[in-house]
Amino acid sequence: MASSDTVYGGPGSGAARADIGHAVMFASAAALGGFLFGYDTAVINGAVGAIRDKYDIGAGGTGLTVSLTLLGAALGAWIAGSLADRLGRIKVMRIAAVLFIVGAIGSAFPFSVYDLTAWRVLGGVAVGFASVIAPAYIAEISPAAIRGRLGSMYQLAIVLGIAISQLVNYALSSNAGGARGTLAGVEAWQWMLALEAVPALLYLLMTFTIPESPRFLVARGRDDEARTIISGLEGGDHDAVTSRMDEIRASLSEHRTKTSVRELFSKPLGVAPLVWVGIALAALQQFVGINVIFYYSSTLWQAVGYGEDRALFISVVSALVNIVGTFVAIAVIDRIGRKPLLLIGSVGMAVSLATAAVCFHSAVVTTNDIGESVATLEGTNGTVALIAANAFVFFFAFSWGPVVWVLISELFPNRVRAAAVGIATAANWVANFLVSSTFPALANWNLSVTYGGYAVMAAISFVVVWRFVSETRGRTLEAAG
Ligand code: GLC
Repeated sequence: MASSDTVYGGPGSGAARADIGHAVMFASAAALGGFLFGYDTAVINGAVGAIRDKYDIGAGGTGLTVSLTLLGAALGAWIAGSLADRLGRIKVMRIAAVLFIVGAIGSAFPFSVYDLTAWRVLGGVAVGFASVIAPAYIAEISPAAIRGRLGSMYQLAIVLGIAISQLVNYALSSNAGGARGTLAGVEAWQWMLALEAVPALLYLLMTFTIPESPRFLVARGRDDEARTIISGLEGGDHDAVTSRMDEIRASLSEHRTKTSVRELFSKPLGVAPLVWVGIALAALQQFVGINVIFYYSSTLWQAVGYGEDRALFISVVSALVNIVGTFVAIAVIDRIGRKPLLLIGSVGMAVSLATAAVCFHSAVVTTNDIGESVATLEGTNGTVALIAANAFVFFFAFSWGPVVWVLISELFPNRVRAAAVGIATAANWVANFLVSSTFPALANWNLSVTYGGYAVMAAISFVVVWRFVSETRGRTLEAAG
């Protein structure tokens, strides 16, 4: 093994060497699920206008077409945990990949808006599966010393998926002369949805190149296979691997069978408080309103007086800021730790959201020739609002974006991890649904108060982390809980 490929584990790991190369490869394959999550949820931005016009579904129908997908994701996340305990992590990845492919093709060539929505919900279920399995699998195969960095790769994949979907949308609709223009006889919006099948197929193929999680194998008594994988990934001599396996077994032994949701919250297990922390973190990650930027940014900027072109350009800038912030997180997460990152992020988000709220408050509201009220941000206020919104994206991107997913995957003890991750992740999707389905109406009513609300959520997020989160950096997963 080349020395550049190896690191020494955390304190107490002796001479054990981890095979970073393979861990990164396996984590990347699993992280493709995150890429599909980002692509699938954000691609609708470019297609939704065309779908609304083609099927004449109005604002209400449009909102449902967008947000029902998120409920599909909540459902997928909810069942992924127990499915992963029963079938194994790899099989669930394969099911997700197939659902992604079927959902993409089905929604691109629908008979009506009803089956289109049904196919999108099916794709949403796949998003939910991926959002549970990718971080859980990455945590389970990562050597402790680099687990945060590998976990952040998942978030990097999500933000890349978001950015690529925006670029694909832009390229297709500018070449076709709008989302309803045709390319090779197929409308641009259909291409947007269908093209997701390509990375989904790649995801499916990659699952045949990566090993099952050693923790699942130990739980199933498949010790020999687990031993081979652990010694390959984490290094160490025969004794070191044996003691790692003993650790895993001990943490599993209290509860070998599948943990039900009811049991999670029961007294004897004693993990209920942790599960609540996971749910709170997952929900707060959405309640600060991050996806208002990624699902509605063009409408948002148009609502305060920017033209469509400028609004689309700003959306691309935000997607890039999001990527840069994620790289910052990857660089520092295993050094400065999860908790400080979250706290800094909360402060930055609260300040930037409050600034945006103040700017929006000063928008000048006028009535246009068809009687609609139009808000306009004048001069400095417009510039400050833009900077504040992108600062918000940056603060989110290096803190709450990646860290919440990393923490959710490492907060819980082994024996309940899959089920607990499933619940926390489902909470994330339900919260996403609540924010995304209410934003258009709230923004119409009062954009400034809406943003003030997100700022308050950011302030609450600070308090929750300060009081209830303990650091998990450098800990082995067996030490969790
Ligand atoms: C996190 C959120 C997701 C959001 C993304 C934006 O992954 O869970 O909902 O779209 O960050 O970067």
